[in-house]
Amino acid sequence: MPRIALIPGDGIGLEVVREARRVLEHVASSEGFDIELTDWDLGADRFLRDGITITDEEFRSLDEDHDAVLLGALGDPRVPGNQHAKDILLGMRFKLDLYVNFRPCVLLSPALTPLKDVKGPLRLDIFRENTEGEYTGIGGVFKDGTPDEIALEENIATRKGVERIIRAAFDYADTRGRGRVTLVDKSNVMRHVGGLWRRVFSEVGQEYPDIEQDAMYVDAMAMDLVRRPERYEVIVASNLFGDIVSDLAAEVTGGLGLAPSANIHPGRNALFEPVHGSAPDIAGTGRANPIGAIRCVGLLFDHFGYRDVAERIESAVIASIEVGSTTPDLGGQLSTQEVGDWLLRHFDTALPRTTNQEASDRND
Ligand code: NAD
Ligand code: IPM
Ligand code: MN
Repeated sequence: MPRIALIPGDGIGLEVVREARRVLEHVASSEGFDIELTDWDLGADRFLRDGITITDEEFRSLDEDHDAVLLGALGDPRVPGNQHAKDILLGMRFKLDLYVNFRPCVLLSPALTPLKDVKGPLRLDIFRENTEGEYTGIGGVFKDGTPDEIALEENIATRKGVERIIRAAFDYADTRGRGRVTLVDKSNVMRHVGGLWRRVFSEVGQEYPDIEQDAMYVDAMAMDLVRRPERYEVIVASNLFGDIVSDLAAEVTGGLGLAPSANIHPGRNALFEPVHGSAPDIAGTGRANPIGAIRCVGLLFDHFGYRDVAERIESAVIASIEVGSTTPDLGGQLSTQEVGDWLLRHFDTALPRTTNQEASDRND
């Protein structure tokens, strides 16, 4: 019985997780899955109330007493520097060693891309390294506040860390029938860290001779994701480059409101969260798109081995987009909750995919 911790967090996180939870409960009961949900009060409110972000005991419990976490978003303008978000979100990624940050960016309907002339189906499966890079906080300031101030933010790359995310990307391409893996780096300038990524990519790549493999500098990749995104399939990148490229890929495939992500330590624990943040600009207005969070439920079922359920969630989402039953960011007029209502009503009769059929077929 999967035990799932729900952490709505801050801002629209609460609104989108409410809908994701309804979908999770609906699908679990209609498919006969036994799931156990626990509610977690982690976020800005708790931090401002109790001065606590997350305790060691809570990390232990998330790790040992749960199989997965479903998170909304963390970030609140009342908390300068968003220390709580770093402690909780980066804390889970690091302490649970969730080294794969999988961010599939799929164009669910051709009309959703802001680009003109996108040729063919578009599915960008991003594998972002999630435990190293510029994110570890290693560094510091010296002579702060003076004209001689020095600030260091180290970029950490270990062979183990680089190898395991590259391997995860190739394994995924191999098992899901994807034809190309592209490494994103900046090895023309960052010769040490970038050099390690290139060497390991080429070593691991030799084990997958049937998969096309190439590498792009991150600046050129930003350009090419706008120019000809359909060229790319699986993308593997360091923590920071993966963060940036995944927002770009999400926008190219319809917007942040649609993009889900899974933070995984294969065989151990997993954290599912939409790619978007707490969106303070629209929090409380009912305008938040819940699809990113709801597609996280699909990733969660896929993670536990139920790809057919994930496909049905995806089909229902596509159907809602095709009939315009969407929130305003996608041009619709429904509220967050009304999108959830629509999906719950249409799940059991989820329409078959009519778009991106080719991409879908290739992934079967
Ligand atoms: P954001 O993703 O919250 O918002 C960016 C823009 O996209 C805003 O205009 C917002 O209204 C819109 N948007 C985002 N999600 C949407 C949705 N579901 N439906 C409709 N519109 C949506 O990014 P930001 O403004 O840079 O960050 C706000 C806060 O969230 C910050 O504190 C940031 O650190 C935090 N953040 C948290 C996470 C996370 O918890 N995983 C991720 C990104 C940002
Ligand atoms: C994301 C977010 C986080 C990150 C922030 C909120 C720490 O942007 O999940 O993409 O940079 O990883
Ligand atoms: Mn980000």
